[in-house]
Amino acid sequence: MQAGIESISIYTSQYYLDLKALANQSGEDPNKYYIGIGQQRMSVPPPDEDVVTLAANATAQALQGIDTTALDTFLFATETGIDQSKAAGIYVHELVRLPKNMRVFELKQACYSGAGGLSMAVPYLLHHPDRKVLIVAADVARYGIGSIGEPTQGAGAVAMVLSTNPTIMTFDLESGLYTNDVMDFWRPNYADEALVDGKYSIKMYITALREAWQQYTGITGRPFGDFHRFVYHLPFTKMADKAHQFLVRHANAELNQEEWQRQIDDAAIYQRFIGNTYAGSVFVALTSLLDNSQEDLAGKRIGLFSYGSGSVGEFFSGIVQQGYKAYLKKALHHEIIAGRAELDYETYREFYTFKSRLPTDGAVMQTPKYNAGRYRFAGLADHKRLYEVVV
Ligand code: COA
Repeated sequence: MQAGIESISIYTSQYYLDLKALANQSGEDPNKYYIGIGQQRMSVPPPDEDVVTLAANATAQALQGIDTTALDTFLFATETGIDQSKAAGIYVHELVRLPKNMRVFELKQACYSGAGGLSMAVPYLLHHPDRKVLIVAADVARYGIGSIGEPTQGAGAVAMVLSTNPTIMTFDLESGLYTNDVMDFWRPNYADEALVDGKYSIKMYITALREAWQQYTGITGRPFGDFHRFVYHLPFTKMADKAHQFLVRHANAELNQEEWQRQIDDAAIYQRFIGNTYAGSVFVALTSLLDNSQEDLAGKRIGLFSYGSGSVGEFFSGIVQQGYKAYLKKALHHEIIAGRAELDYETYREFYTFKSRLPTDGAVMQTPKYNAGRYRFAGLADHKRLYEVVV
């Protein structure tokens, strides 16, 4: 018996900024963003969108055709939660009408927590084969106007139903792990924007990859050649090039650039247009690979590396299942990404700064209506966040 993904779906906010608009402001050559870091556009949430609404939209999509009575666990992975105590997943649980007899809680460790949730869910399901686990990773990546990280912002969510009926992909139980206390990216409780030492973070990412890979291969004895494709956490798409180039060399794999590039390129397509989704990023990348690979990946082994600054890294793997394409939501994902409205720079600034204008004294406030999909953040009253179903 094996456990893995029965359904997976992504959602992103319905507005974006093209990075050439950012380049016009910063005075940078747009190719620094398009080519240098490999980012074209970034999703920008409107005032009535947050991690709850992003997650609820992704969850509703992933649950289409799924028997929810078997769901007993909902893990919500985020580093941009909306409350210090209550799990954002409980709002989602109510919005999408999940069964009451289940547990819901939040996971946090920068961009890693979604993968951590998956590592706990797979053995859990093997012990409880009649149950299903919902993992949702949602984040709004904010680094600050004019900051070095600004072109790598983004917003989105990925929802996965895991079960012992893994129609899309199974996961192996073994993984390579690495934890190291470093300050490469963090967000103090009083800050709305992440702080990042970008160059240091790239180094720490590679260190974690090397250590996790080393442990993984030590445990499994699996050589590099057993992997058909690789899916990396993508703070920006060029990070996968840096990571994979390193791994190819480190593993003494005899691949030319075209060959190793082919192992990672399909996974980067969505991220290039959405931007960073932090905890969701490695699974947005997995969805991108499964949706966009021209090749039939059935029976192929995929290597995945999740990295969360601070830092935790995990290398793990899985096998794509026969007939998986019939269970993907590729057309919907393409429609969501292509259907977004472009923002001018001024409106991006207005959306971005809206958060700082939210009342903190319990006053009533209604958010202006934008397009936030089926669920929206309607406002605040008595220090409580209010959500509503749109359609
Ligand atoms: N055309 C093509 N490439 C260009 C270019 C141009 N006109 N101008 C610059 N570049 C290239 C640079 O050569 C560099 O490539 P390299 O990394 O292969 O050397 C790349 O673009 C980035 O330029 P750089 O000057 O290093 O950018 P930066 O100082 O603005 O920093 C990041 C880039 C990614 C480090 C920064 O945006 C960041 O910190 N982002 C957040 C990252 C993050 O989230 N980390 C934590 C989670 S893992």
